[in-house]
Amino acid sequence: MLASALTGKKILLGVCGSIAAYKACDIVRNLRKLGAEVTVVVTSGGARFVSPLTFAALSAAKVYGGMFDEQDAHTIPHINLARDHDMILVAPATAQTIARFAVGMADDLLSAVVLAADCPVVVCPAMNSKMFTHPATQVNLTKIAAFGYHVVQPDSGLMACKEEGPGRLPEWSVILSAVEKVFTPQDLAGKRLLITAGPTEEPLDPVRYLSNRSSGKMGYALARAAMLRGGEVVLVSGPCNLEPPANVELIQVRTAQEMYGAVLSHFDDMDIVVKCAAVSDFRPARCAPEKLKKEGADVRLELAANRDILRALGERKKSQILVGFAAESENHLEEGKRKLAAKNLDMIVVNDIQGETTGFQSDTNKVTLVTRGGEIKELELLTKEQTAMAIFDEVVALVGGGM
Ligand code: C5P
Repeated sequence: MLASALTGKKILLGVCGSIAAYKACDIVRNLRKLGAEVTVVVTSGGARFVSPLTFAALSAAKVYGGMFDEQDAHTIPHINLARDHDMILVAPATAQTIARFAVGMADDLLSAVVLAADCPVVVCPAMNSKMFTHPATQVNLTKIAAFGYHVVQPDSGLMACKEEGPGRLPEWSVILSAVEKVFTPQDLAGKRLLITAGPTEEPLDPVRYLSNRSSGKMGYALARAAMLRGGEVVLVSGPCNLEPPANVELIQVRTAQEMYGAVLSHFDDMDIVVKCAAVSDFRPARCAPEKLKKEGADVRLELAANRDILRALGERKKSQILVGFAAESENHLEEGKRKLAAKNLDMIVVNDIQGETTGFQSDTNKVTLVTRGGEIKELELLTKEQTAMAIFDEVVALVGGGM
């Protein structure tokens, strides 16, 4: 198992009496897969929906429920559970339990643990949409947010009670982002970032196009890393087969010209731009309105050059930190340094695309970071998520040095 932000973290999962309690089983499994140790505390309502036995088997640990269970009395569970964990995740959190938190009640084990804790608390409300939107619940949520608890907004949609509206427990990817954020330094808080990702497609006719092998994985990892570090992220993505990261504004484009428009229209509002997309340098000079026929076809393809988006940003930039990528198969460093200067960048990420474990489509990467000041940092082979974090370590250092 590769190290994750959750490796070795001790997480207390509070499960309340919502129909979404069955989803907590998967939450336990997913947290453990990422290397976390999980202790489950179920409310009496939660235990009506899912047996504590299930949680004990899935967490491979004792499950806590009653405040006054005689066999635990000597361990003072509400204090020690609060003390022994790195964070508390309450998912699903019911209106009742949120109300308890909001007024500081401690009449069951979960609310007593939360009251006694000084670790981060993440609360994922899940309930009928009328209960969720009721002013009482909204006031309670505002109150617990003011205590510093992280409240994850529920999804909207059809619920078990056949009503539609906000109140569904969000997807795991959204809960995971909230959990990882707790363990991630918020050093991009207040910064606006624009990240580009993926290939572009340059149409030749309605069914054919020129493109490249970029999967978008590196760019999506960068967008997620920036969001986890507190940044406000706009992700401009070419066609990719990836799930967009939670809490990121996604703008989907197809061609280099569309990417140019999307990037340039947002550029002035940005603090940091990372251009990871593999933009097609050329497009077919003409796009046929109908599918080209084999018979009598002109077999030569006339191309037109696309504008270099990054170069345009380099010419326009004021205070922004501008980071480019250089995917190279030879003379990596020289090419990287040349592009850094030619495009007026603050940093370039030089990427070897020859190896099987680096570059296009793989889940890992091996890059060298070259900064405007001439500093060269060779990173080891890392997952694209780890590479993204290492790139932002460097970007944060550049921001610290004045933008
Ligand atoms: O010059 P080269 O295409 O190798 O430079 C790669 C860098 O330039 C990447 O950051 C890529 O996103 C960017 N680029 C661009 N517009 C293009 C071509 C490349 O922004 N038309």
